[in-house]
Amino acid sequence: MTDIDAVGSAPGRVNLIGEHTDYNGGFALPLALPHRATATLRRRDDRNVTVLSDGREAVPVEFDVETKPGDVEGWAAYIAGLFWALREAGHEVPGADIRISSDVPSGAGLSSSAALECSVLTGLDALAGLGLDPTTMALLAQRTENHYVGAPTGLMDQMASMHGREGHVVLFDAAAVTAEPIPCDLAAAGLSLLIVNTRVHHQHADGEYGERRRTCEDAARRLGVESLRDVQDHAVEQVLARLDDGSDAGAGDVMRRRVRHVLTENQRVEETVELLRSGRLREIGPLLTASHVSLRDDYEVTVQELDVAVDAALEAGALGARMTGGGFGGSIIALVDDGQATAVAEAVRDAFAGNGFTAPDTFVAVPSAGAGVVSSS
Ligand code: GLA
Repeated sequence: MTDIDAVGSAPGRVNLIGEHTDYNGGFALPLALPHRATATLRRRDDRNVTVLSDGREAVPVEFDVETKPGDVEGWAAYIAGLFWALREAGHEVPGADIRISSDVPSGAGLSSSAALECSVLTGLDALAGLGLDPTTMALLAQRTENHYVGAPTGLMDQMASMHGREGHVVLFDAAAVTAEPIPCDLAAAGLSLLIVNTRVHHQHADGEYGERRRTCEDAARRLGVESLRDVQDHAVEQVLARLDDGSDAGAGDVMRRRVRHVLTENQRVEETVELLRSGRLREIGPLLTASHVSLRDDYEVTVQELDVAVDAALEAGALGARMTGGGFGGSIIALVDDGQATAVAEAVRDAFAGNGFTAPDTFVAVPSAGAGVVSSS
């Protein structure tokens, strides 16, 4: 036995467009970040698992491979849950010593948890010789998050982390559960994608995300369909009018606005894909901004810091800007001309200082590779 038996590596993601659509069977267009989590695994001869994360407690978290929901809490639950999900799916997994390092900012809406899950899963897949395909691994990671960690999230983050590709965004169709790489050569178009982490910590296990999800599910029931995807091809106004049909009280303004966001957001994803396919990258800017407005006014998942960051970026000349991820904090993206990223980042920093907000983190992202095994013996 060597000291290291497998190393899995997986990226965080930003979502270019298509927010709060995945759990409605819709479309999203994320890209993998250069920031990654790396999981180094060593097989054990017993049924125990130890997990150590660089930059966290010096003492490893320990659990049994037969762990059940509730056994492990905190960050290590994202790993313990994978053992549970794999065993639930009928796979034999060995005990292991796992060491994690990650440069994906956490709580920034950049999917540090999906990166963590997918890096460990990729490593475990190699360690146990399971031969799982990337989509199956993404589904296992989502199951972990939903049923072991207890966060009712969709599948976008894990699909982006598993299927990301250099120079491409990933068209995720949540109804078909497919991921199609779409070329997105920002540099060739003279563009940069600026990420601004507001450093307002977001948290999906909190009620708001689940509440949005439930409202959409109620709306689908009211419309007599399984998910809002099933009414995607109808005129938005028609669907909203149908929501109010029936003898009981109308659906209410809130539900109508939530549905309007989901339907128009899916359309924006489709339009963005068309523009990318025809090489008209610059033209996606207004769609990004429209997405933000919809998330702010109809879906109500932004916070002041996100709105200020978007407004400041646009005022400083960004072609488009929007919050990315689940919202209630986290990050925005801004599409900017090459050479403008520094000035736009500076403008956002100034606006934050002017509003008395904590200084944001900024960096430029390029579409990067998805999860993979770094080495295994
Ligand atoms: C979070 C969830 C995703 C998705 C986004 C919103 O990132 O993990 O599944 O729902 O929010 O688009």
